[in-house]
Amino acid sequence: MTTRRILVLPGDGIGPEVMREARRVLDWLQRRGMVDVECAEGLVGGASIDAHETPLTDEVREQALAADAILFGAVGGPKWASIAFDRRPELGILGLRKSLDLFANLRPAMVFDALTEASALKPERIAQLDLMMVRELTGGIYFGEPRGIETLAGGGRRAVNTQSYTTNEIVRVAHLAFELARKRHGRVCSVEKANVMETGVLWREEVQALRDRTYPDVTLTHMYADNCAMQLVRAPTQFDVILTDNLFGDILSDLAAMLTGSLGMLPSASLGAPDGAGRRKALYEPIHGSAPDIAGKGSANPLAMILSLAMMLRYSFDLGAAAELIEKAVAAVLESGLRTADIMQPGKARVSTSVMGDAILRALERPASAKG
Ligand code: IPM
Ligand code: MG
Repeated sequence: MTTRRILVLPGDGIGPEVMREARRVLDWLQRRGMVDVECAEGLVGGASIDAHETPLTDEVREQALAADAILFGAVGGPKWASIAFDRRPELGILGLRKSLDLFANLRPAMVFDALTEASALKPERIAQLDLMMVRELTGGIYFGEPRGIETLAGGGRRAVNTQSYTTNEIVRVAHLAFELARKRHGRVCSVEKANVMETGVLWREEVQALRDRTYPDVTLTHMYADNCAMQLVRAPTQFDVILTDNLFGDILSDLAAMLTGSLGMLPSASLGAPDGAGRRKALYEPIHGSAPDIAGKGSANPLAMILSLAMMLRYSFDLGAAAELIEKAVAAVLESGLRTADIMQPGKARVSTSVMGDAILRALERPASAKG
């Protein structure tokens, strides 16, 4: 087995707390000889601002470029809320996405059987939910120029952001969505606002042309983003792969996450283009963010971070069996009735971040008996 270099960036808020538990899982796999990794740890976001006055140092950027994969916690918090906009903690993650050209963000939303009751929707609406959101991650309004806030001569100010997409930016992420659909249920729903935005028109045309050219076996539908939000709440199991732009994907993936019971459950993978050897730059992070309101209390749910580690094993290291082991351990622990506060239900046992981590390790040790 080749040694893989992982850059670990816990970040801010609950990031370090949930990362600690993911590291324990990784150490366990390492002790068992199931993975061979070398971890380096760095600062990012607010933690990096405090130490180095920038959310992303050149050194960490270089380390990220050299790593085989990055495990990322979360960034941001009220402590840095008044910092100038161009130096905010969020630029830590946005800078990494851009520097590594991680243009495709995979956000799976699946429901663990034990959690159907924790969803904001009725259990029958979400039974069997298993959708994959593919969000474009390095283009669109997050990065478009011009941008800024100007002071108007006549008084008042004017703020500008620019949504722009090129054929190449659309096609490369669409390729990935179609490839994923082939391994799933063969359906892609492409989401934009072609009724009001030119970027939506181009998005729709390019995605359709790519489907007709290269993926005739995949069923492609198109949906306006507002309708998609409505359909995700009305009948979420209609979706297989949802392909959408950066901003709509940010919003719709939070919505999709809540269908599964909690933001605290969902992992994500951000991938770049494959190199000559077929390897992609990749960053894995939970989608929940830094949750400053519960940071430091030991009550955060580490499962999204642990499931992000599983995604890393599957997508970056081709260790599907190890990933499955982790996912089964998570399912077993949920079956056994343990819950962190965010997924607490009547009659279940509320546990802390580290006790949840302990339970995952126990379930890994004894896969069959973990249910008891
Ligand atoms: C996410 C987050 C980020 C985003 C923030 C932290 C910049 O909300 O990953 O969804 O908006 O992309
Ligand atoms: Mg978001």
